[in-house]
Amino acid sequence: MYSNSRNDRGANSNAASQDEQAVREMYERAPYPGLGSGLKDPGIFIDPLKPELSGRTGIRFLDAGCGTGHFLVGVAKARRDWTCFGVDLSQASLDVAAQLATLHGAAVMLKRGSYLDPLPFEGQFDVIAAIGTIHHASDPVAALKNLRASLRDDGYLIMHVYGLRLDREKFDIKEMLDIFEPDLNKVERRFEIYNALIAHRRKHWLKTLVRRPLIDIVQSGINWVRNLLRRSRGTVWSPGFTARFDKPDAPWIDHFCHPCERAYEVPEVLALVQDAGFAVHRMLGQGQEYPQLVPGGWQPDYSQLPDAAKWRLSELLAFRGASFRLILRKNGAA
Ligand SMILES: C[S@@+](CC[C@H](N)C(=O)[O-])C[C@H]1O[C@@H](n2cnc3c(N)ncnc32)[C@H](O)[C@@H]1O
Repeated sequence: MYSNSRNDRGANSNAASQDEQAVREMYERAPYPGLGSGLKDPGIFIDPLKPELSGRTGIRFLDAGCGTGHFLVGVAKARRDWTCFGVDLSQASLDVAAQLATLHGAAVMLKRGSYLDPLPFEGQFDVIAAIGTIHHASDPVAALKNLRASLRDDGYLIMHVYGLRLDREKFDIKEMLDIFEPDLNKVERRFEIYNALIAHRRKHWLKTLVRRPLIDIVQSGINWVRNLLRRSRGTVWSPGFTARFDKPDAPWIDHFCHPCERAYEVPEVLALVQDAGFAVHRMLGQGQEYPQLVPGGWQPDYSQLPDAAKWRLSELLAFRGASFRLILRKNGAA
C-alpha cells in the first residue's frame, strides 16, 4: 500500500486532525473535480445496482465526499425518484455543487461536514457512494464504520479507491517532485519540476521507446486508446498522470500535491472492507475476475478457491492495474 497519511505513520496524537485539516484546505483551494457545467456519467457506479434496486421505492442516496457534485448531480438528474444528499469537507466544493444542481434543475441537499463525525442528515440511506474519497480520510476504517451506521441493513455502499498498480507512475512522479520541492503547498514550483520531466520525456520518447520491451509498448498503446474512448464516453474524468496540463489546475493538484492519500492492492482493500464490517457484494474494476486470464491448467483447483484468492490472482495476472470499484453490503446482511 502507498500512504502519505500522517495518521498512518502515527506522527503524533494530532495526526488524524492534521490530515483532515490538510485535506480540507487543499479542496477549499482546489475544488474537485471542477469539471465546469458538464456532469459525470453516474452509470458506471449505479447501473450495476439496477437489479438489486428494482422495485424499491423512496430511495435515499448519499454521496459522501461529494466534492463539486459532478457525480451527485448526475445521479439526481438520472434518478429523479431518488432523494439525494451530499456531504463534503470543503465549502468551496459545495458552493460549486449547489450552482451545478441549479443549472441542471436537480434537487440535492448539501451539508458541510466530515463523514468521520455524526452525519448532518437524519435517517438511513439505501445507497451510499464514497467515490475517490475514502483513501483521503484520516482513518478509512473509522470513516467506513461511520457510513455503515447510516446505511440500511439492506443497503449498498459503492466505494471507489485508488489501485496501487494503476497509480504507481503517479506516486513515482510525486516522489521525484518531493525530492526537489517537498512542500506540497509550493504548487507552482512543483509544477515547474513536473513540466521539465514531461518535456524531457516528450523530447526523448524515441530513445525511451526502443529501450522498452515490445509487450509494454503494445499494452501502453492499448491503454491509450481505451482511455481515449472512456474519456469520450464520459466514463473517465481524471486526466492521465503524464497528460499535458496548461496550468496546475484542480486535477493536477489532486494528482501531485495531495497531503493524504493511499493506494491499495487487493488484500489491503479486502482487509479495509472487513475491518469496517462490510462484505464485498460485487468486485468491479481492479481484482474483478477475468476467466480469460486464468491458465487452463489451473482448473479445477482455481474454481475451488475463495473469492479473495481469485481476486488477488486477477490482480497478479493483469498486465496493468485499475482503480477499485466495489459494491459493499453490511457483513451478515441477508
Ligand atoms: C477527489 S474528491 C472526489 C469528489 C467526488 N466524490 C467525485 O468523485 O467527483 C475527494 C472529496 O472528498 C472530500 N473529503 C475527504 N475527506 C472527507 C471527510 N472526512 N468528510 C467529508 N468529505 C471528505 C474532499 O473534500 C473532496 O471534495
